[in-house]
Amino acid sequence: MKSINLIAAIGANNELGYQNDLIWHLKEDMKFFRSTTSGHPIIMGRKTFESLPHLLPNRTHLVISHQDIRNPEVKTFHSKEEIDAYLDKLDEEVFIIGGASIYKMFILEAMKIYLTEIKANHQADVYFPTFNKDEFDKKTLLEGEEKGTFYTINQYTRRKTLCKEK
Ligand SMILES: NC(=O)c1ccc[n+]([C@@H]2O[C@H](COP(=O)([O-])OP(=O)(O)OC[C@H]3O[C@@H](n4cnc5c(N)ncnc54)[C@H](OP(=O)(O)O)[C@@H]3O)[C@@H](O)[C@H]2O)c1
Repeated sequence: MKSINLIAAIGANNELGYQNDLIWHLKEDMKFFRSTTSGHPIIMGRKTFESLPHLLPNRTHLVISHQDIRNPEVKTFHSKEEIDAYLDKLDEEVFIIGGASIYKMFILEAMKIYLTEIKANHQADVYFPTFNKDEFDKKTLLEGEEKGTFYTINQYTRRKTLCKEK
């Protein structure tokens, strides 16, 4: 059975990004992102896809957009229904890598949410959606500091299995 996971870096007020760019640049977070998502399909919105410096190695890119993405190495889906039909046939872990609209689209189905929680604020125009932390078990994977910025990488695992209504 497929498992949908979210992965994001957020500020103390859930800040995700500003002017279609990342606002958090922590080496350990990048390393964690790479090792956690490597070998798995990654799902993203068109704006996040366009903000990537290049295709991320060893990961199938699944991009959600109303448009057709002209890149033969990317699979495009035009709606939630379209990508759901594709995901229904998968039997592996997939990672939602943003941005805000796509986290919101999938958060109620997430089995695991990996959050790098940064103890700082930043100007932002997109935010990670709030979710009910009571429905998840929290495990701290890493605590650290880079150039005076403190952060914690937490893994939230959903307590009970989701039943998809037919
Ligand atoms: N901190 C982090 O971990 C992190 C991670 C990822 C991204 N970000 C930040 O998040 C920001 C981008 O987030 P965002 O919410 O503005 O954009 P986004 O989610 O990356 O992309 C939005 C686009 O996705 C497509 N889309 C969304 N819902 C759709 C639907 N139901 N059907 C078809 N297409 C749909 C649309 O593309 P079309 O317009 O082409 O139709 C829409 O414009 C940036 O600042 C980025 O740096 C932060």
